[in-house]
Amino acid sequence: SHTVSRTEDGVVTVGGLEVTALAEEFGTPAYFLDESDFRERARAWRTAFGHDADVFYAGKAFLSRAVVRWLYEEGLNLDVCSGGELATALSAGMPADRIAFHGNNKSVHEIRTAVEAGVGRIVLDSFQEIVRVAHIAQSLGKRQRVQIRVTVGVEAHTHEFIATAHEDQKFGIALADGQAAEAVRRTLALDALELVGIHSHIGSQIFDMAGFEVAARRVVALLAAVRDEHGVELPEIDLGGGLGIAYTSDDDPREPHEIAKALSEIVTRECEAARLSTPRISVEPGRAIVGPTAFTLYEVGTVKPLDGLRTYVSVDGGMSDNIRTALYDAEYSVALVSRTSDAGPMLVRVVGKHCESGDIVVKDAFLPADLAPGDLIAVPATGAYCRSMASNYNHALRPPVVAVKDGAARVIVRRETEEDLLRLDVG
Ligand code: LLP
Repeated sequence: SHTVSRTEDGVVTVGGLEVTALAEEFGTPAYFLDESDFRERARAWRTAFGHDADVFYAGKAFLSRAVVRWLYEEGLNLDVCSGGELATALSAGMPADRIAFHGNNKSVHEIRTAVEAGVGRIVLDSFQEIVRVAHIAQSLGKRQRVQIRVTVGVEAHTHEFIATAHEDQKFGIALADGQAAEAVRRTLALDALELVGIHSHIGSQIFDMAGFEVAARRVVALLAAVRDEHGVELPEIDLGGGLGIAYTSDDDPREPHEIAKALSEIVTRECEAARLSTPRISVEPGRAIVGPTAFTLYEVGTVKPLDGLRTYVSVDGGMSDNIRTALYDAEYSVALVSRTSDAGPMLVRVVGKHCESGDIVVKDAFLPADLAPGDLIAVPATGAYCRSMASNYNHALRPPVVAVKDGAARVIVRRETEEDLLRLDVG
């Protein structure tokens, strides 16, 4: 990110601070998040869409109270997908009407909490949920704003586990076979629900805009069908998140303004063709905002050359702080950041300290051949889905998140302690 640079003796600095000093103060492994970069990306998304659209940051990528405050200050809204994320958002002061609540199986308790708090929208994901949310809203004497999540039948070109709009998966209500039209019918019939729009999310880490284009076209076709059948024009369309970021130099992500322009043009064009007034667009980027803003700092513990194969570099974290390599075959890069080296490159695999051989952080990379225990290495682009998917496997203590800005660093999520672990152990 833009505030990362290197001193003459090869020590990387972030926000004006040397990583060697950061490691000294906060320990390793740790995530260092560049607050200015985060705010700039959030702002870029908001300004790209202007006043005719809303940006909902997807909290699942990474959420903490500090992050909620930054989003609030930068004028973004927030997408939450659990009672825990909702509690975090509310406790940090995000106004409830700027929160959208997602999920394919929200509990009655979660729905009640959300309706009571007055969340701006609940995204309905199934026929059962339409009735469930209506009952809860009615029992609380409220009318809840809702959107219906539809699956548009698009194959997004990404890992199977993070593609979400093809037919054989658990999310949303299919556009096919008139299912979504039926969901609209049932929702409109319930007084406790105010249907404001249609939602589509096609997947994650996507570079090709074609999938969004098809999704937008199909959602607009549904809006036109709803107008024809019910005489109402639903005022909102949400196209979800999913925009890819650069994990390695092979990835070539789009800028928010290009994405905003493309999406607005498609929606406007399709609506004109269907003689609909253009709905208010919203999007839900998570990874694209927070992903590039953080890196994980590790200390090298052992260096084990396997003749003719590669060298295994073990660090003090692993799959408990970054599960993405093991789970999705994700690719990352790595760099020596505590010094310079004139040594030639050696092929390495960066692995963690967990009890299984799939515990890989970076599958294939090059590091200087004189790499040694005590060196600090950094894995960039770990802001999204790393801390938020971190686990206590092997009773690992989850690393802290340290926000760096203008030469100052502060912990926004502290490191877990053994006491934290034992607190839940009853007996
Ligand atoms: N909106 C909805 C309804 C979503 O389900 C998601 C992500 C997003 C927005 C944000 O997507 P993003 O802009 O961050 O791609 N754990 C996986 C990613 C799972 C994404 C789940 N839904 C990973 O580490 O790649």
